[in-house]
Amino acid sequence: MNIGVIGIGFVGAVTAAVLADQGNSIIALDIDSDKIARFNSGDIPIFEPGLKELILKNKKNLKFTADYRMLRGTEIIFVAVPTPNLNGKINLDYVYRAISSIKSINNDAIIVIKSTVIPGTGSKIKDEFNVNIVSNPEFLREGNAIEDTLHPDRVIIGGEEEYAEKVANVWKFSNSPILITTRENAELIKYASNSFLATKISFINEIANLCQKIPNADVETVAKGMGYDRRIGPLFLKAGIGYGGSCLPKDTEAFIKYAEELGEEMKIIKAARNVNEERIERIIKIMENKIGKIGGLKILQLGISFKENTNDVRESQALKLYYALIKKGANVIVFDPVSKIEGIRYCESIKDCLISIDAIVVATEWAEFKILEEMDLKIPVIDGRRILNPEKFERFIGIGRYCDD
Ligand code: UGA
Repeated sequence: MNIGVIGIGFVGAVTAAVLADQGNSIIALDIDSDKIARFNSGDIPIFEPGLKELILKNKKNLKFTADYRMLRGTEIIFVAVPTPNLNGKINLDYVYRAISSIKSINNDAIIVIKSTVIPGTGSKIKDEFNVNIVSNPEFLREGNAIEDTLHPDRVIIGGEEEYAEKVANVWKFSNSPILITTRENAELIKYASNSFLATKISFINEIANLCQKIPNADVETVAKGMGYDRRIGPLFLKAGIGYGGSCLPKDTEAFIKYAEELGEEMKIIKAARNVNEERIERIIKIMENKIGKIGGLKILQLGISFKENTNDVRESQALKLYYALIKKGANVIVFDPVSKIEGIRYCESIKDCLISIDAIVVATEWAEFKILEEMDLKIPVIDGRRILNPEKFERFIGIGRYCDD
């Protein structure tokens, strides 16, 4: 099938690569011509495990362009442009621009909205532009994007059956459950899912706060015990310094605002946001109580991205922790396997960094940070992501373990 993809960020790039790999002819479009030049030369500007290999493997039927005219003749066009927040409210400018550009080339393709948009957006666009619109929200996780696109837990498609079925056919290869519904339900499923995930994380983080006050308590074991219950499930119960990234904080915020406009207060989601917002303060307090004044200490921070296997630092809690430590007067040096930001002092390897360090703080859940367990460290190790075995350290301070603070 001839398919177009507009917006070559994480979602667009992965969708284009996976669909090309399934034998479709893909035109991947982005208005950023520098980015297009990089994709065309094989210098993929996105770090995502397996993505570069998949793009290079499918070079023949995956074309990158900044020219909308190349989309003429495509039967389905996925729109995966950003929907940032403006004062907490969703900004749909990029989506609207993409739709008018499609219209301007007279394409009568089925337009599939992959971008996260508030309920009602697809139907509004259909009426305003007189186009065939289907909603197909994205559930992939950064760092796991290829696998999540090949085998999603579910495929949600909203729109008129005739068009929804055609889009369903594109995803049949995944053998995942496909739910065809209204556009509004599909759009809601996306927000409700991300908000629920954020709530799960904040819930366990609140239990972690409590565990810190109870001798012999540890949130890791509590979460494990809870997770055996199939009604609860073990995933997204990892306590830590909070959720970040380009999706959970933005989507919860936009959902709260959207509901407000309908006269509804999303009390649970607001609470999840509030718990998340105080995570950095919490970990700083734990550190101060356990190792004393932070000002003047030389601290090695492990991880700056918002989670493992990505170089993405958008809304990263690790980055917020870094700035909070600096504000306290600490001398912070960072090691991150892939993420580099200007103005931050980095070291090349964990071993290189250890000389004259007063404390180590783990801020991102990269598996390779487990190497600390083999280092026989005498200095305090603060595990903000609970990836380390406490037994392996002389002075272990972990989120959600009794710590007398
Ligand atoms: C999230 C959703 O998980 C995807 O389903 C969705 O498609 C995506 O947003 C989106 O809307 O595009 P992502 O932002 O890639 O995916 O990252 P997550 O894996 O959800 O992690 C988000 C944050 O939560 C990270 O900072 C991570 O460290 C934190 N987290 C996650 C925890 O603190 N504890 C957990 O148990 C899980």
